[in-house]
Amino acid sequence: MEIMADYLSVTDFSNEEMEEVWAMTDRLKANPLNNMLNGKNIILLFEKPSTRTRVSFEVGINQLGGNPIYIDASSSQLSRGESVEDTGHTLDRYVDMVIARVYKHEDLVKLALSMEKPVINALSDIEHPCQIMADLYTIREKLGGVRNKKITFIGDGSNNVCTSLILGSALAGARVKVASPQGYEPKKSIVGMAQELSANSIEIMEDPVKAVSDADIIYTDVFTSMGQENEKQQRLKAFLPKYQVNEQLMESAPDGSLFMHCLPAHHGEEVTREVLYGRHSIVFDQAENRLHVQKAIMLKLFNRSI
Ligand code: CP
Ligand code: NVA
Repeated sequence: MEIMADYLSVTDFSNEEMEEVWAMTDRLKANPLNNMLNGKNIILLFEKPSTRTRVSFEVGINQLGGNPIYIDASSSQLSRGESVEDTGHTLDRYVDMVIARVYKHEDLVKLALSMEKPVINALSDIEHPCQIMADLYTIREKLGGVRNKKITFIGDGSNNVCTSLILGSALAGARVKVASPQGYEPKKSIVGMAQELSANSIEIMEDPVKAVSDADIIYTDVFTSMGQENEKQQRLKAFLPKYQVNEQLMESAPDGSLFMHCLPAHHGEEVTREVLYGRHSIVFDQAENRLHVQKAIMLKLFNRSI
């Protein structure tokens, strides 16, 4: 049987494949309903909570005529100690694809290695590739392209969203600046990978005001990601008040800059309500595009084209 490709990292697509997915997304967004996933059973196996990822995948699969099956990992035999590998071998006999949200990225790799059917990363501790494919598509839609666009991330530069943003932007030819406090910078290995994909694609600094000064896009995410709850107080101390995206910080950015957040947002922590609901914000367009882009990602992994 043919072993199909997985989508665990944003770098699992080449730049050309990324462009193909976005071109398919344009067509799916214009015509949302078809039967291209007719007869496909697709598992969503989630270890962590989700609103956007779960609903956008379930709706997207339904719109393409497929059948989504949601399993909360805590109510599966995983919670009683069944191995990830045995879970993968078993699911491989029933379904056509697995979309998994996990605590440990290595579990996603184990799942993918134990299955011939494609596995999609719906967020791990290391990456959130579907988020960034949708976000770069949103930038392409709003600014007419991604290449050479200046994206500034403020906050936890070491988290999953920022890691995928750095790598995805390098792949797409955008330039990223990350402003983080000491100890929360992007990992050196990630910066190295980004530089290999595209020289000068990434700049790390501590000063958020300097980082936003020429930004087309200002992006932030929560200071405390899922699984890091016991570090919350220490993180609030490290990030506030300097790394909050508020109106004062937006005034240091070019007037036409756009504000992005993967959501959920913690009002008054990484972003104020004024910015989240203000004239620069495109956060709900971002959320909508998760639906359209993920449909194209699934079709691409099934080697289908529209
Ligand atoms: N942005 C995102 O992945 O949101 P959910 O956690 O609600 O899926
Ligand atoms: N960095 C966040 C993203 C949530 C969509 C987390 O992992 O909790």
